Amino acid sequence: MHDRLPLIAGNWKMHKTPAEAREWCAGFRSRLPSLPPGVEVAVCPPFTALEPVSSALRGHPAWVAAQTISDQPSGPHTGEISGSMVFSCGARGVILGHSERRAMGETDVMVAARVRAALDAGLRPIICIGESLAEREEEVTLQVLTTQLTAAIAVVRPSEVDRVVIAYEPIWAIGTGRSATPEMAQESTAAIRELARKRLDANRLRILYGGSVTPATARQLLVSPDIDGALVGGASLDPESFAMIVEAAG
Ligand code: PGA
Repeated sequence: MHDRLPLIAGNWKMHKTPAEAREWCAGFRSRLPSLPPGVEVAVCPPFTALEPVSSALRGHPAWVAAQTISDQPSGPHTGEISGSMVFSCGARGVILGHSERRAMGETDVMVAARVRAALDAGLRPIICIGESLAEREEEVTLQVLTTQLTAAIAVVRPSEVDRVVIAYEPIWAIGTGRSATPEMAQESTAAIRELARKRLDANRLRILYGGSVTPATARQLLVSPDIDGALVGGASLDPESFAMIVEAAG
């Protein structure tokens, strides 16, 4: 038995101006003025829309998260943005180690440093891990997940387990319309929970699935026992389809 609340997080990636973000919030609020009982929702806009989204969602239970932060609290780091800066714009969480950032050179060591910085800034890290198609075909998925997870949670104190979220996102499923099957997603999330048990009370650790989640596929993925929600990219850009996925978690 566990009491992990399902979390549906919308990753907008590099989409939406502040005006478009406010319009999304108005649409989402009118569609879901309150959330289904026991479901948590996070909206993850680009930095420039964090404050507008936080303001537009004031009084609504959905929380706001950034898409990365610096591993440094402040200083001479041109172009970087710190955890306390996004917190001051209303963010209460942050996606870290997304495969699109790892593809630009973010390493496990860098992700771990950002995880620690996020926790120190009062943010809930949503840590993304996942294998490429080549790695799945070479049957090294478990090794890849082990390496990424071990590095990321090495900096998490056992007392912080409730503040951390892992998102299992197979790279081949992201933005491709080709979701993992519920069996594959369950197999990997269950393996991640077992790996996490070495360091954390894994029954309390929320593990999401991400990769081409849509209103049509959400329910069958979300019934799996080790999947505690979804990280949704493309389908989160439209408030109606995002609301449908939130309802599927209820
Ligand atoms: P997708 O993206 O839902 O568009 O596949 C998921 C993600 O990258 O987090």
